[in-house]
Amino acid sequence: MSFHTVEQAVGRLNRSELAVPGSQPEMFDKAAKLDVDVVFLDLEDAVAPDEKEQARKNVIKALNDIDWGKKSMSVRINGLDTHYMYRDVVDVVEQAGERLDMIMLPKVGTAADVYAVDMMVTQIEDAKGFKNRIGFEHIIETALGMQNVHEIAAASKRNESLHFGVADYAASTRARTTSIGGANADYAILTGSSEVKNREVHWGDMWHYAIARMVVAARANGLRPLDGPFGDFSDPEGYRAAAKRAAVLGCEGKWAIHPSQVALANEVMSPSAADVDRAERIIKAMADAEAAGKGAVSLDGRLIDYASIRQAEVMVQKVKQIANA
Ligand code: GLV
Ligand code: MG
Repeated sequence: MSFHTVEQAVGRLNRSELAVPGSQPEMFDKAAKLDVDVVFLDLEDAVAPDEKEQARKNVIKALNDIDWGKKSMSVRINGLDTHYMYRDVVDVVEQAGERLDMIMLPKVGTAADVYAVDMMVTQIEDAKGFKNRIGFEHIIETALGMQNVHEIAAASKRNESLHFGVADYAASTRARTTSIGGANADYAILTGSSEVKNREVHWGDMWHYAIARMVVAARANGLRPLDGPFGDFSDPEGYRAAAKRAAVLGCEGKWAIHPSQVALANEVMSPSAADVDRAERIIKAMADAEAAGKGAVSLDGRLIDYASIRQAEVMVQKVKQIANA
C-alpha cells in the first residue's frame, strides 16, 4: 500500500438510484414504496424552466412530509451556470436540510464548482445548527468535468460518489449515439483482414473509457462510482447488459429512470449467492494457509493470495450492508 491513506466516504448502499422529477409530485408516493437504495428528486433537466419554482416547493414538502423509509434521499440542484441553483441550495437546505442525505451536482466542471456549493451548504448548516452533514454526489457529464475528474473527486470532504451522465456527456463530447446509454453499431471492429470471407462485426462499448476513467478517480478518493441512465426502459436486457459492464469496471450502482429499472439495478449490483460462497471459502482458505505459514494457496484449482482476500472482504462487506438496509 501507499503511505497515502485513501479515506472512504460514508458507507451508503447505492446499488440503485431512482430519478424522480420534482415537478411530478404524483410520482412521489410510488417512489417512496419502491425497494430502491437512493432516490434523487430532480430540479434540473426533468423540470421545465416554468416549473422550477413549483418543483422546488414540491421537493421540500416531499422531503418533510413523506415517509421514505430507509432510503437515502438526494436532490439534484440546477447547474452552477443557472440562476436557479442558489435558491435550490438555500431553500432546500434551509427548509429540508435535516431530511436530506445528499445533494447531486450536475455538470460539475471544476473543483471550484464543488467548493462554491460546499461553502453555501456549510454556511446554511451552521446557521441552522444542523447536526447532519449533507454529502455530495457529482455527475461527470461534460468534457470539462471528465478532464478535471480527479480534482473534482478530491475537492470536498462532503464528496460521496461520482456518476457517469451519459446523455449530457454525449452532447458535450459530440459523440454519436443512438439511445441514452445504449450501444452504437458504428463502434465496432471487423474480425480478420480484407482477404477473410464472412468477417464478423464485434460491437464495442463506446462508454468504456469514460466509465473506467471516472471509476479510477472515484476509487482513488474513496468515493462510490455509479453508472447513469439507460433511456430505453422497455429494454430490460439492454439495461442489464449496460449495468453488468459498469459493474465489471467497478461501479457499485446504476440509475433507474423508470421504476421497472430499480429491481434490475439491485439484481446486477448485488453479489450473487455463488460469489458470496466463493468469497467466504477464500477467506477461510487464506486463514488456514496463514495458520500453516503460507501466503498463497490454491482453491478450486486456482491460485489465491492476499489480493484475493481483499476482493473477498469487499464482497462480504457488501452482503452485510445489504442485510442491514
Ligand atoms: C444525466 O444527467 C445524463 O445527462 O445522462
Ligand atoms: Mg445530465
